[in-house]
Amino acid sequence: MGQDLKGKTAFVSGGTRGIGLAIAKRLSKQGANVVINYFRSRQSADEALADIKENGTECYAHRANMGNMDQIVPIFDKIKEKFGKLDILVSNAAIGHYGTLLDIKDKNWNISMETNAHAFLKCIQLAEPMMPDKSRIVSLSSLGSIRYIPGYASIGVSKSAIENITRYAAVEFASRGITVNCVSGGFIATDALKVFPNYKEMIAEVTARTPMGRVGTVEEMAAVVLFLISNEASWLTGQTIIVDGGYSLP
Ligand SMILES: NC(=O)c1ccc[n+]([C@@H]2O[C@H](COP(=O)([O-])OP(=O)(O)OC[C@H]3O[C@@H](n4cnc5c(N)ncnc54)[C@H](OP(=O)(O)O)[C@@H]3O)[C@@H](O)[C@H]2O)c1
Repeated sequence: MGQDLKGKTAFVSGGTRGIGLAIAKRLSKQGANVVINYFRSRQSADEALADIKENGTECYAHRANMGNMDQIVPIFDKIKEKFGKLDILVSNAAIGHYGTLLDIKDKNWNISMETNAHAFLKCIQLAEPMMPDKSRIVSLSSLGSIRYIPGYASIGVSKSAIENITRYAAVEFASRGITVNCVSGGFIATDALKVFPNYKEMIAEVTARTPMGRVGTVEEMAAVVLFLISNEASWLTGQTIIVDGGYSLP
């Protein structure tokens, strides 16, 4: 099931673990060649590559700190050289520090804003010239962009920027049929949650408060990304789709 992506090229920032890996795996399963990115863990990258390559498409991992704009440029130079184009851009990598607004150090604020928001802008700027008409751009956000999550300020604010970049890009690229959308997740059990010192209690609390009675899976996030990049979603642009089992509703 799913659209045939043979001949398409996709880039997934932070595609070596968690949600990014699930997205990269789905894209390659549908036939796309996939470039993934990581910064700290070469071991995760190697494991991810072994996993993705089982689908038989081309895949390599590019090490670059998405918080450093100079390191982002060669990612797209290499994609251009190797594949000549990019059909699918997924801006997934994110990082941040736990703390209240008053706790945020300048350095940590800058890391979140650069790695999460500025990197998305930079990727769009570098990708768009090599994207054919009707290409697809998807960003990842979280409920902290619109709601208060204790200790999540520096990430939550950067996610608000991501959702707004999504809207601006959607309008600016609409005439080319390129859609730009965002998937905002509720709680998904990945390493990212370990930024919260009390994450085990948080998962129990979120599970109890979620109408569907559980946290989400990485595959459920990837499934929404796969819909957004499909031809079926050609009239859908500039939107943030909340995927949270109903958590944000009551
Ligand atoms: N988990 C959730 O509950 C949840 C909910 C909603 C939205 N999201 C969003 O979904 C996305 C993925 O989250 P996740 O939970 O899958 O995260 P994760 O398990 O922590 O994985 C993060 C990925 O990003 C990479 N990465 C981190 N910092 C990077 C940097 N500076 N440069 C390049 N790569 C970097 C990591 O690679 P290295 O470790 O090698 O650096 C890894 O591949 C994020 O945008 C997150 O905000 C997550």
